[in-house]
Amino acid sequence: MSTFETFISKEEIQTRVCELAKKIDEDYQGKDLVIIGVLNGAFMFLADIVRELKTPVHLDFISVSSYAGTESTGKVSLIKDIKIDVKDKHVLLVEDIVDTGLTITELLKLFNQREPASLGLASLLHKSSKTKHDVKIDYLGFEIEDKFVIGYGLDFDGRYRELPYIGVYSES
Ligand code: IMP
Repeated sequence: MSTFETFISKEEIQTRVCELAKKIDEDYQGKDLVIIGVLNGAFMFLADIVRELKTPVHLDFISVSSYAGTESTGKVSLIKDIKIDVKDKHVLLVEDIVDTGLTITELLKLFNQREPASLGLASLLHKSSKTKHDVKIDYLGFEIEDKFVIGYGLDFDGRYRELPYIGVYSES
C-alpha cells in the first residue's frame, strides 16, 4: 500500500464528522430523513456520519460517473439509481467532494424532479477555487485548495479509497 503525506488526519476528520452529525440531528429533529450516498467516494464519510446520528434514517446509494484519472470528463452519467421513492421525504445527499460542481448540480436537478419535501447536501470536501456551478453545501467537512486528494473514500483510478486519512496524490 502506498502512503501519502497526511493532508487531513483521521482525528481531524472524526472531529468534523461529529460536529456535522450534531448539526444534522438538530436540523432534522422529528423528521423522517432519507440519506443518499453518492458512490463510490462518499461511502466512508457516510458510514461515519450515520453512526454518529441520533436521527433514524433510511439509506440508499446512487452512482454516477464524471471522472477519468484526475480530470472531469464534463459529462455525468447515471450508473446506479436509488430504490427508495423520495417524493415528499426529507432527502440529504452525501458527496465526497464538490470540485467543478457539475456532478452535484446534475444530481440536485435529478432529485428536485422527484419532488422531495426538502433536499440538502453534505459534502466532505469543497474546492471552491475550481467550482464553476453555484452549489450550496449545507454541511461541509473541509474547504480545500486545488489539489488532487485521495483516501477516506476518494480515489485515483480506483485506488487509495481505503486510507483512513486524506492525502494529496502525487505520482512519486
Ligand atoms: P465535480 O463534478 O467536478 O464537482 O467532481 C466531483 C467528483 O469528482 C467527485 O465526486 C469525485 O469523485 C471526483 N473528484 C474531484 N476532485 C477529486 C479529488 O481531488 N480526488 C478524488 N476525486 C475527485
